[in-house]
Amino acid sequence: MTAPLRASDPIVVDVALGDRSYDIVIGRGQLASLGARIGRLRPGAKVAIVSDENVAPRHLDAAVAAVKNGAAQGSTSVSTIVLPPGESTKSFTHLSKLCDELIARRIERSDVVVALGGGVIGDLAGFAAAIVRRGVDYVQVPTSLLAQVDSSVGGKTAIDSPQGKNLIGAFYQPILVIADTALLDTLPEREFRAGYAEVAKYGLLGDAAFFAWLEANWKDVFAGGPAREHAIATSCRAKAAIVARDERETGDRMLLNLGHTFGHALEAAAGYSDRLLHGEAIAIGMALAFEFSARRGLLAKAEADRAIGHIAAVGLPTRMGQIEGGAPTLDQAMELIAQDKKVSRGKLTFILARGIGNAFVAKDVDAQDVRAFLADKLKQAN
Ligand code: GLY
Repeated sequence: MTAPLRASDPIVVDVALGDRSYDIVIGRGQLASLGARIGRLRPGAKVAIVSDENVAPRHLDAAVAAVKNGAAQGSTSVSTIVLPPGESTKSFTHLSKLCDELIARRIERSDVVVALGGGVIGDLAGFAAAIVRRGVDYVQVPTSLLAQVDSSVGGKTAIDSPQGKNLIGAFYQPILVIADTALLDTLPEREFRAGYAEVAKYGLLGDAAFFAWLEANWKDVFAGGPAREHAIATSCRAKAAIVARDERETGDRMLLNLGHTFGHALEAAAGYSDRLLHGEAIAIGMALAFEFSARRGLLAKAEADRAIGHIAAVGLPTRMGQIEGGAPTLDQAMELIAQDKKVSRGKLTFILARGIGNAFVAKDVDAQDVRAFLADKLKQAN
């Protein structure tokens, strides 16, 4: 009989931002340490846990118990706020309700907000924490793979506007991230796979050895255990290093947008719905970015094929023809691309690649080249 998986010693990754530095604690069962860690960082703090109706039934009781268990270390009381799930929660309406709730519960600057959920809860609760009383500390407890390797780290907080995603927000760093890998055991497979696109992204953008490791070990990452923890820790280390260099995305942080210009356009065209999850859109976007790079002679076609081959091997989509309900039209795609990343005199900013692990920011991509490339891809898709 196989031994049950137990809580592991955590891997701790430092996000080095001077006096705003914080730890990302990665490991199985680490949610249980939430209260003790908050107590050590902010003795005597009141804690408000924000979650959503999908995550709360699975993990809220454990999070509350973890905070109470930490009382000996100094965290005093805990209350909970549960919001509706889904992207539509990242709105002014829910932000306003959440801020009112936090103030009504007398959450003050010496207290702590905990975001227990995926990217939506992390972005919304982080933004509320940034603005309530001009800034309350917050802790990210990401419950999806995507949030563990990307959105919970680096301090981007936001809500959406009718004009687009994440257009209203703030850079506001958490004081701690706890990525409990056991929380991923209950994720639907499709959601885990979509999050894996962001894991592969770190290999593709800057770490060829990690990409080769993923090619050899991805099945173990999906299965759980030490390989999953290694993949999450390597992704968090990569993100922490980039954020430490360029917190406010004036340079290197843009590399994290590999696949996102094409991907965001496809996601918007699919109505931010279950037709195409964010990670699936990024998977297609990364495949397009590698193909486009090969077409521009930046890397050999065989190298682009290798990148795309791995994305496809894990079961992620790599072609626009795979989008449920159909691909966007060429005009629609180009309009959405122009909205996502401003066109300046007909030039677009894209993250392109000179090889696996060697992405760069190209600020001068001709919109006509992108149009011609997408026209060809859409012909193949239909
Ligand atoms: N998700 C991209 C970033 O944090 O910059």
